[in-house]
Amino acid sequence: MKNGRSALSDIYILRLGHRIYRDLRVSTHCALVAYAYGARGITFSGEKDEGLIEEVTRTVRRWGGDFTVTYEEDWRGFITNFKRRGGFIIHSTMYGINLPDVVERLRENLKEKDALLIVGSQKVPSDVYKMADVNVAVTNLPHSEVASIATILDWIFQGKELSRKLPNAKIRVIPQERGKKVVKNI
Ligand SMILES: C[S@@+](CC[C@H](N)C(=O)[O-])C[C@H]1O[C@@H](n2cnc3c(N)ncnc32)[C@H](O)[C@@H]1O
Repeated sequence: MKNGRSALSDIYILRLGHRIYRDLRVSTHCALVAYAYGARGITFSGEKDEGLIEEVTRTVRRWGGDFTVTYEEDWRGFITNFKRRGGFIIHSTMYGINLPDVVERLRENLKEKDALLIVGSQKVPSDVYKMADVNVAVTNLPHSEVASIATILDWIFQGKELSRKLPNAKIRVIPQERGKKVVKNI
């Protein structure tokens, strides 16, 4: 296991166009879903939201693992640099190639390269479609960036990410048929 998720390289998320009041809940969910489903980090662009970054960072510190949370104003430069360093760019959009038809190509690239998975919020600028190595859809129907992150990561990692135990956790759930049990200060 290269990173506790699978034999594949790391996947980072880029969340475009965050708006502080409108998107707080959905952007938080993008980060938590990315974290839970085995991404290596998330970068937010759009309005700088220190509260959002602090909240997700605090959660990661408690529940463990090595997940980075950052902000980047210049998202075009960020994508270009990621690509220049040999990374593979995936853009999640309902207009792309449906996931079942492209997942093997994603997995092949991830054997050698880190990937950046871009999701939008408001209308995504047209150059993102051109900068991407692959525009991938989770069905060609409109739905949600949260669902698309979960589905794309789960298909790439083939469900292995669901059984990870995160290192450096301060708290962990002990699964129960009924009721709640957690251990702290592990
Ligand atoms: C609420 S949608 C807004 C899409 C917007 N109308 C546009 O033209 O880009 C926000 C984000 O969810 C993701 N998304 C929504 N439906 C999707 C789908 N069927 N497949 C993949 N990603 C999807 C995309 O990343 C999109 O940028």
